[in-house]
Amino acid sequence: MEKDKYGIETSISQPAIKLFKAADIDVEFVKVSAEKPDPNRLMFGTVFSDHMLMIHWSSARGWERPQIKPMQNLSLHPAVSALHYAVELFEGLKAFRGVDNKIRLFRPMLNMERMLHSARRACLPSFDPKELLECIKKLVVIDREWVPYSNTASLYIRPVLIGTEPSLGVKIATRALLYVILSPVGPYFSKEGFSPVSLWANPKYVRAWKGGTGDCKVGGNYGASLLAQSEALTAGCQQVLWLYGEEHYVTEAGTMNMFIYWTNEHGEEELVTPPLDGIILPGVVRQSILDLARKWNQFKVDERPVTMNELVKAIQQNRVTELFGSGTACVMCPVGRILYKGENLHIPISQNGLKLTTRLLESLTNVQYGKVESDWACLVI
Ligand code: COI
Repeated sequence: MEKDKYGIETSISQPAIKLFKAADIDVEFVKVSAEKPDPNRLMFGTVFSDHMLMIHWSSARGWERPQIKPMQNLSLHPAVSALHYAVELFEGLKAFRGVDNKIRLFRPMLNMERMLHSARRACLPSFDPKELLECIKKLVVIDREWVPYSNTASLYIRPVLIGTEPSLGVKIATRALLYVILSPVGPYFSKEGFSPVSLWANPKYVRAWKGGTGDCKVGGNYGASLLAQSEALTAGCQQVLWLYGEEHYVTEAGTMNMFIYWTNEHGEEELVTPPLDGIILPGVVRQSILDLARKWNQFKVDERPVTMNELVKAIQQNRVTELFGSGTACVMCPVGRILYKGENLHIPISQNGLKLTTRLLESLTNVQYGKVESDWACLVI
């Protein structure tokens, strides 16, 4: 039985019947382009570009021709399965305006493949990931003026696939809509640099579990995190450190993958992140950090489970050098404090600290903004 790289049998996905092709795109342009926002004053995900991509699917007819249209509201039957049973998924990637004024995406095929994986898990139709990427590139070319003229801001690309089955029956959708919207987003951190976040580590709420959807980008994972996030804020922390199981395994932080850079129990300098065992989202930045660190070959790099006991002991013994999250939105985000079992654990950030976090971030942004040549950069225009 053929499986995708995350372990789902590929035959499980709904056959598309007829695939869509980027060459068939119909375009309807806006009459007047909206005013572009100031890249220094952007609130994440609140401003949208002029156009969107829409592709309808039905089990009877397969995928329709892709359409690029003026950004608009959707018209949906009130019973659609996306709204009632969360039959939906999304992706997040960015387009960057480089120092040479060219526009690039960062390893976008990893997002396309992960989207296909999420589609299998949600029993939504499969598609050709290369063709979806071509459609997205066409959309970005049309809205290229929306890619901020800034070497810290970018254009966030949000592909979404929803079940549009107009029925209250809990069943596999026979209709779906894939759409992509674009939103210019500002830098996650201020010009002054990193501001380390605090994490609320409490096993009361669980983000994901074995056999669940933790390794898929489905909306339910995020909507169900809000109560824990609000308790974290009440407890004086900025984000949740998601724990798993009796052993309180460290999994993710907020919407980010987690990394620990420490001297491990065997006295080795090591960068470690939880393994892709079904409860961890296979982040593109996560993968890129692992790839870079392995290429540098200057310290041990490992994907293995770490318990809170191990982390607490290492913090108390001053063995943790840097602790950080990674994700598309923030790229990298250092952690300065963890509140666990009523105790504040501080990660000391020394004068020349965050060396690895800074080095990794610079290596990634150098590729994104075209400062160095790399096959991770996908040229749009
Ligand atoms: C990311 O940073 O990768 C995200 O998924 C954040 C998004 C849910 C806003």
